[in-house]
Amino acid sequence: MTETLTVRDNRTGQEYEVPIVDGAIKAADLGKIREGDDAPGLAVYDPGFTNTASCRSAVTYIDGDKGILEYRGYPIEQLAEKSNFLEVAYLLVHGELPTKEQYDSWVHEITYHTFVHENIKEFMQGFRYDAHPMGMLMASVGALSTFYPDAGEIGDAENRHMQIVRMIAKMPTLGAWSFRHAQGKPFVYPDNDLGYTANFMSMLFKMSEQKYVADERLVKALDVLFILHADHEQNCSANAVRSVGSSQVDPYSAVAAGVGALYGPLHGGANEAVLRMLKRIGSKDKIPAFIEGVKNGDERLMGFGHRVYKNYDPRAKIIKKACDDVFEVTGVNPLLEIAQELEKIALEDEYFVKRKLYPNVDFYSGLIYEAFQFPPEMFTVLFAIGRTPGWLAQWNELVQDKEQKIARPKQIYIGARGLDFTPASERWS
Ligand code: CMC
Repeated sequence: MTETLTVRDNRTGQEYEVPIVDGAIKAADLGKIREGDDAPGLAVYDPGFTNTASCRSAVTYIDGDKGILEYRGYPIEQLAEKSNFLEVAYLLVHGELPTKEQYDSWVHEITYHTFVHENIKEFMQGFRYDAHPMGMLMASVGALSTFYPDAGEIGDAENRHMQIVRMIAKMPTLGAWSFRHAQGKPFVYPDNDLGYTANFMSMLFKMSEQKYVADERLVKALDVLFILHADHEQNCSANAVRSVGSSQVDPYSAVAAGVGALYGPLHGGANEAVLRMLKRIGSKDKIPAFIEGVKNGDERLMGFGHRVYKNYDPRAKIIKKACDDVFEVTGVNPLLEIAQELEKIALEDEYFVKRKLYPNVDFYSGLIYEAFQFPPEMFTVLFAIGRTPGWLAQWNELVQDKEQKIARPKQIYIGARGLDFTPASERWS
C-alpha cells in the first residue's frame, strides 16, 4: 500500500502527491499547493487544533474509543495501584522507571527543594484576603523565574533537571499557602520528614500540633488523584506550556501559562460544576426529571462525556474506587448516592448510550475533594500540582525536539485592507 495522499487542486487541475507518515500529512506539504506562483500556499483551518498534531510525543498515549490511558507505555490502572506519585513523576520526566538509586536520589532532591525563598512568602501574603488560589499559584510559579535567573539556560540538561526538581518540589508549598491565605491561617513550612503528599497535607491542615499526621488512607487517595492527573497528552494546558515554551522562555514562565490555561472552567473546573449539579438535584427521586431536562437540551449532565474518551474514562473508574477508601475515613458524602444513581440511570439510557457519554475524571473527583474539606476553588490547584510533572515532561521533550519551532499558527484574515488614515483632528472636526 502506498503511504501517500493524492490531492487534485480543482482550481488549477494540478495533482500533488503528499506523503503520509504515522497517519498524518505535513501541513507544510499542503502549503506547496498554490493557485499561482505568487499566491499563498493552501492552509488548514482548525480552530482548537481538533485534528492537527502539534508535535511528536512519547509521553502519554490515549485511545479514547477503548478507554486506554498510558504514561510512557504503562497503563494508568497499574500505576495508580502499584506506584506512587513521585515515581510516576520520574517516569513521565525521564521516560523510564527509576532504579532504586535513581528513585532514592529523585525523592531526596525533591524533598530537599520543597522550601521557597522567604520573599515568595511575603509576596503571597500581599494578595487580597479573598484571592483565588489558582491566581495566586499562577503568579507565584511565574515569580519563581525571578529567583532562578539561570533557568533561562534551557539548552543545558543539568540546568533543566534542576528547574524540574524545583518546580515539582515547590508546587505543593505554593498550593498549600494559597489555600491558607484565603483562610487567614499562618503558612506552614514543609516538613521534610514526611513524604510528598503527606507533607502537602501537613502544609494544608497543620495548626498548633507539633507534627501533623494525616490518615494514611487519605494520603494514599490524594497520591492516586495526583497520579491520575499527572498528564493527558496535548490538552489545553500542555499545549499552553509547549506554546509558551517554544519561545525558549524559562520553564517557570511556561508552566505559569499552563496553570493559567487550567484555571479556565472548560479545562480544570468541571468537577466543581458536578458538585453544584448534585447539590441542586438534592435527592434521588429528582433524578428522572433532571435526566429528562438533560435530554431535552436544557442543560448538560456535568462529569459525563469527553472530547477524546468515547468509553468509560479509565481515570473515573479508579476515582470511583478511591471514593470508598476516602469515605471510610471521612464518612460518606451524601451526594455519592445521587451520583451513583445518576450514573446508573444515564448508562442505561439510550440518549447517553447512543452518544457514547460515560463518566469522566471529574464525575467523582469533586466528591472526594469535598470530603477532604477543600473549598471548590482548591480543586483546580490540586489538579495543577498533579499535572506539573506532565507539563514538565512535555516541556522537556519540546526543548529537545529538533523539529519544533516557535509556535506561530496561521490565520485566515477576514478584516479590511488598504484603508486611508485620516488624522483625528480632521475626522472629528
Ligand atoms: N450531557 C448531555 N449531553 C451531552 C453531554 C453531557 N455531558 N456531553 C455531550 N452531550 C451531547 C451533545 O449535546 C451532543 O448531542 P447532539 O449530537 O444531539 O447535539 C453530543 O453529545 C456530542 O457532544 P459534543 O458537545 O459535540 O462533544 P464534545 O466532544 O465537543 O464535548 C465535553 C465534550 C466534555 C465538552 C462535553 O461532553 C461536556 O460538556 N461534558 C460536560 C462537562 C464535563 O464534564 N467536562 C469535563 C471533561 S473531562 C476534563 C479533562 O479530561 O480534563
